[in-house]
Amino acid sequence: MITLGIESSCDDTAAAVLEDDDIILANVVSGQDAIHARFGGVVPELASRRHMEAITVVVDEALRRAARDLSDIDLIAVTQGPGLIGSLLVGFSYAKALAYTVGRPFVGVDHMAGHLLSAFLEPVKPGFPYLALIVSGGTSALFRADDFFTFTLLGRTRDDAAGEAFDKIARLLGIGYPGGPVISRYARQGDAKRFALPRAWLEEGSLDFSFSGLKTAVLSQYRQSGDRDDRLLADLCASFEQAVVDVLVGKALRAAEQQGITSLVLGGGVSANAALRTTMTDRCRDAGIRLHLPAVPHCTDNAAMIAFAGRKWLQHKGPGTWSDDVFSRSQLGQVSAAPR
Ligand code: KG4
Repeated sequence: MITLGIESSCDDTAAAVLEDDDIILANVVSGQDAIHARFGGVVPELASRRHMEAITVVVDEALRRAARDLSDIDLIAVTQGPGLIGSLLVGFSYAKALAYTVGRPFVGVDHMAGHLLSAFLEPVKPGFPYLALIVSGGTSALFRADDFFTFTLLGRTRDDAAGEAFDKIARLLGIGYPGGPVISRYARQGDAKRFALPRAWLEEGSLDFSFSGLKTAVLSQYRQSGDRDDRLLADLCASFEQAVVDVLVGKALRAAEQQGITSLVLGGGVSANAALRTTMTDRCRDAGIRLHLPAVPHCTDNAAMIAFAGRKWLQHKGPGTWSDDVFSRSQLGQVSAAPR
């Protein structure tokens, strides 16, 4: 079975061709960093306009790389939400029109389910139940996954998402966009112990996150420092990155203990972070937790994960209908089990 995946929830136009469950024939992503860099964040109107220009090119390129044409496609899986409405509408309308034209079913997928299931694209698959830490520009959340469709939200950010904190700090420090990779680069040269930045553990047992206090602490350290040189930037970035990693790893391990689950999956753009990957690997090994770390192109926004989730969701909820619409908030695991 051949699935064409389409993703356009934020600022990446992506298309993938997936054969059966995990044979990725093509995985094409066209990013927009150059367009949004001077604003230090994604400008929704510019993002949707760029999706309009890119979508046909990206889908055609995915089919070309997969050596398939539209008549070979059995299913079209497309991100339905959450995300920027204008961006989502481009991919979703395109997918519907394509499905109508070629007479194949389409299925709308929750973007979060794509991240939650992205570990199934790897050779070693997780077994259910598992925990998933999804950390991206729009989300920081901990889920329990019991099967391909049953996810329970255990904790989420109360303010900024982790990736958003990286992006905002990079903007405050004037070091570039997107913040994650730039801060990581500076952090590699820095001393993470130089600044004692706060870690928001919140109430006893809470699995929620909060990064806004940390952001303010970084800014005030920066403002108080006399020499705003590369050494200062590197040490601030290293201290900030360490604070984020400590909380993400600490909460994921706390969730594993609370739920009695020994498998953990990482997903979302921030899981490309090398310090997070290394620390999580070490701490999971020590705690006897099996860690599933998808390859970096499967962690950041991509359409292969949407194609996979769509295959599973078709069995669960059946094909989409022409009146289906996009949504801006995730509909997965709405109830948080975390104490509030
Ligand atoms: O999942 P993703 O590709 O897309 C959206 O959330 O839309 O995640 C993008 C986010 C950005 O905030 C970016 O700064 C962050 O992931 N990111 C990173 C790294 N690479 C990307 N954060 C920390 N370290 C990285 N190496």
